[in-house]
Amino acid sequence: MRVLTSTLFRSRLEKGFDSKTAKFHTSVPEDLRIFEDDINNSMAHDIMLYEQGIIPLKELKMILKSLMEIYESWNKGEITISQEFDDIHEYIEAKVIEKIGIEAGGMIHTGRSRNDQVVCDMKLRLREELLIIAEQILELIEVLQKRTEENFDTYMILYTHGQHAQIGTFSAYLSNYIEILLRDFERFMDCYKRLNTNPLGAGPVGGTSIAINRLRTTELLGFDSIQMNSIDATSSRDWAIEFASCCSLLMSNMSRIAADILEWSAIEYGYVELADEFASSSSIMPQKKNPSTLELLRGKTSEGYSALMELLTMVKGIPSGYYQDLQQTKITLWRTVDNTQACLYVMTGILSTLKVKPENMWKQVDGSFTIAVEIAETLVMDAGLSFRESYKVSAELVNTVLKKGTTLKSLTPIDVEETVQKMFNKKIIVVNSMLEKATDPKKSLDKRISLGCPHPDEIRKMHKENETKLKESTIKLTDKKTSIKDALNSLHKIAENYLKE
Ligand code: ARG
Repeated sequence: MRVLTSTLFRSRLEKGFDSKTAKFHTSVPEDLRIFEDDINNSMAHDIMLYEQGIIPLKELKMILKSLMEIYESWNKGEITISQEFDDIHEYIEAKVIEKIGIEAGGMIHTGRSRNDQVVCDMKLRLREELLIIAEQILELIEVLQKRTEENFDTYMILYTHGQHAQIGTFSAYLSNYIEILLRDFERFMDCYKRLNTNPLGAGPVGGTSIAINRLRTTELLGFDSIQMNSIDATSSRDWAIEFASCCSLLMSNMSRIAADILEWSAIEYGYVELADEFASSSSIMPQKKNPSTLELLRGKTSEGYSALMELLTMVKGIPSGYYQDLQQTKITLWRTVDNTQACLYVMTGILSTLKVKPENMWKQVDGSFTIAVEIAETLVMDAGLSFRESYKVSAELVNTVLKKGTTLKSLTPIDVEETVQKMFNKKIIVVNSMLEKATDPKKSLDKRISLGCPHPDEIRKMHKENETKLKESTIKLTDKKTSIKDALNSLHKIAENYLKE
C-alpha cells in the first residue's frame, strides 16, 4: 500500500524534516479536533472560488467529492494521520491530490493560506464549544431555579467571615448564584459576538491578488461578519483569550459554590448531602462519604486560570503577522473547553441531586445571635435611638445573655429598657410584641424589606424575574445555534447541488 507522505509544502527544501523534529513541529494531535471544520472551510472556499470564476466546475466537483469521501472515512474512524504531516491542512490537501491528481486537487488552496485557514477552523470549532458551554450554564441555572422554588421557606444562617451573620433562606443563597451564572451566560454571548467573525480570505497576512469573495465565505460558513483587516485576522487571538477569561470567571464562580457545598456537607453543619453517584469513600475509613468531586472541581479551577495565563503569555510578545507560537494556542483552548464542560456537567449533577436538610439549617437559626442586628434596628425604628446607640445596647444585651449562658430569646422588655437607661440615660418603652418581632427568627426575616434581601417574597420576585431571563437567554442561544446549523446545512446542500450539475 502506498503511504501518503508529507512533501507538499517543502518544495523549496532539499531534505525532509528530521523525524523527531517533525513530531516536535506538527499540530496534527490538536488539529484532529478541527478536522470537520477544515473540510467545511475548504468546501466553502472552493465553492466561492468557482462562483468567482477562479476554478472550473469540473475541478470544483472533483474537489468537493474527494472532500466528502475524506470526511466519510474520517467519520468511520478509518483515518489515522501520521505526525510527519505539518498539520491537517497539509494532510487533507495531500489526500485530495492523491485522490484526484495535482492538476485538479492543486486548486483547493488557491487564494488561501494556512494562516487564515487555521484561524477560521479554530473559530468554527470554538463557537460550537462556546454554545455548548452556554447551554450547560442554562441547564445549571434551571436546576438552581427548581431548587430555589423548593426552598423558598428554608431558613438558614448567612455567613460572613465563616461566622453567623444574618438569618436568610437557602433559596436566597441559590438565587444569588442564578444571578451570577446569568452574568456568566451574558459574558459568553458577548464573547461570541467577537468570535463569530470570518478571518478566511486574509491570506498569509496581506490578502491575495486572486479575486476571492470574502462576503460569500462569510455567508457560507455562518459567520456574522468579516474580520476585516488581514493582519488582524491572521495574527490576533484576543477572541481566544476572551473565551478563556469567560471560562476562568465561570470556573471561579463554580469553585465558590463547591466551597459552600463542601463545607455544608460536613457533619458539623449537615445542611446538605451529596447523592452517592457524586460522592466517593475512603480506602481505610469505612464511615467516609467524601465530596471529592467538588474538591476536584475547585482544583480544576486552577487549570482554567492556567489556560488563560498560558494564552496571554503565548501571545504577548508575538509581533503582528502569523508566528508558529500561535499553533500552541489550540492545545490550551481545547483543554480549557474540556475542563469547563466537564465541571459544568458535574456541578449540575451534584446540585440537581443534592439532599437538602432544612431541619439542620433550622437548628442553627433557632437561638442564633444573628438577631442582635434585628434588636438594634428595632430600637432605631420603634424607640427612636440612633443606630450607634442601639448597636451598643444590643451588644451589651448579647454580653449579658452570654454571661448567663442563655440566648437573646430569653430577654424581657425590662432587660432592654434598663440597659438603655443605664447606658444612655434614656427612658424608652419596650413592649413584648416589639421584642418578639426582633427575636423570633421567622418574624425577624419578615421585617426585612430592602430590595434583594432574603425575605421569602423578595426571593419569589427574583425567582420570577430570573425565570423570564432564563427564557430570553434560551431564545438567544437557540437563535445562534439555529443560524450556524442552517448555514452549514445549506453549505452542504449547495455542494451536493454542484455535484449533481
Ligand atoms: N499548523 C499551523 C497552526 O496550527 C498552521 C500553519 C501555519 N504555518 C505556516 N507555516 N504559516 O497554527
